[in-house]
Amino acid sequence: MTVAIILIILVVYAMVVLGFRIRDPELHWNWRNIDLNDLTFPKNFVWGTATASHQIEGGCHNNNWYEWEQSKNENEESPILKEAVSGEACDHWNRYEADIELMKQLGVKSYRFSVEWSKIEPENGQFDEAVLQHYSEIINAIIGAGVEPVLTLYHFTHPIWFKELGGFEKSENIAIFQRFCERVFNEFSGRVPRWCTINEIEVEATQSYFSGTWPPGKKDPALVGEVIKNLLEAHVRVYQSLKKQPNGDKVQIGLVKNIFQFDPYRSWHLIDNILGLVMDTVFNSAILRFLKTGKFRILIPGLINVSHSNPKAPASNDFIGLNYYSHFTIKPRLNPSELFEFKIRSNETPTDMEYSIYPEGFYRAIMRINQLGLPIYITENGIADKADNRRGSFIRQYLYALSRAIGDGARVKGYYYWSLMDNFEWAEGYEMKFGLYEVDFETQERKLRKGSQVYQEIISR
Ligand code: FCB
Repeated sequence: MTVAIILIILVVYAMVVLGFRIRDPELHWNWRNIDLNDLTFPKNFVWGTATASHQIEGGCHNNNWYEWEQSKNENEESPILKEAVSGEACDHWNRYEADIELMKQLGVKSYRFSVEWSKIEPENGQFDEAVLQHYSEIINAIIGAGVEPVLTLYHFTHPIWFKELGGFEKSENIAIFQRFCERVFNEFSGRVPRWCTINEIEVEATQSYFSGTWPPGKKDPALVGEVIKNLLEAHVRVYQSLKKQPNGDKVQIGLVKNIFQFDPYRSWHLIDNILGLVMDTVFNSAILRFLKTGKFRILIPGLINVSHSNPKAPASNDFIGLNYYSHFTIKPRLNPSELFEFKIRSNETPTDMEYSIYPEGFYRAIMRINQLGLPIYITENGIADKADNRRGSFIRQYLYALSRAIGDGARVKGYYYWSLMDNFEWAEGYEMKFGLYEVDFETQERKLRKGSQVYQEIISR
């Protein structure tokens, strides 16, 4: 009897720990033997930089994030670090011409940005022509500077009226989102060659419905599953519909997927491994499986039980966008309200966010997403580094990992550094400095950081 129990435990242990490792082994390279100048990128490789409307434009007074920034919890505390509000942000709405000049100085040839749904459609079904005209001018200015515009339709923010209808918690609201996407596409598809439908479904769903740190601030695992399902379905429907619009066959349309690995804090520890596996299922593997096969299923007994299928999903991306920052190393916490925590290992270099510098993970994520068989654009990658004492080596190491993945067969076509300039970093407010350009939010002055010059040099090579 005891032998049988021990055997069962060993088998479970081996299945979980080894299974996890075999599928996506945690890599660590010996950097002392690596030549960081050994970089090879294909001809026509696209170098770019990225932003999102709510984080830079200013004047977003009509969306779910605006409401969230004004709100207080039961202890009268703001949900945003240091009670920040996005407010005027980088005032990019008015300063876009100067900001496009900054892109030229960097040498980037492509720019990924998003349009603000709450400005374009301030009331359900009513579109603001003046706002569309303003975006049209921004697009003309980007093209005029010799930079290619890449437009994201949905980057975390939606109008307050859409939230009041239940947002993406309700599948019937997908049609409303689709109508917005069609309208924007028909305005700009003649000038914008690449379109991202939705940014980071998995990040929005988990922050907004699991940790509750983003609007609407709920903690309900069942809704995590439901919102992922609805956003995936929204992507497929939007893709299918835009492809049928004028220019649909001429432009490229794709989803933007974030990959964070959830590696066990202690590689030998069964619970760390199980936690990592569960998190990876929700955040990565269930979504990648849907994109590949059209089948979506998450079953975590007692927490999430959701399934969906759409046979059109495997043919609903002309490219896949990958956003990559780092891995989380996960371990249990002996606290009934928080069952696990992410803890940076002592031998890793932290960024200013709650994760480390992990270029090998960038390589892993690229090789993993490459299994979709689609052209890949790295739609975001960057570091929060206020002291600017890690940015330069971050760029060198991550671009080395990218070059190595391309050498090993990954079909990566371009890379967009997050972000052009410091901006409103969601729940972290203005504390996180991701910008290639430092922004003084009092004077709106922008200054190229020293560490960013590495990016400039690599592009110019
Ligand atoms: C990504 C978001 C982007 C920015 C970076 C740091 O998850 O897409 O808006 O906040 O993280």
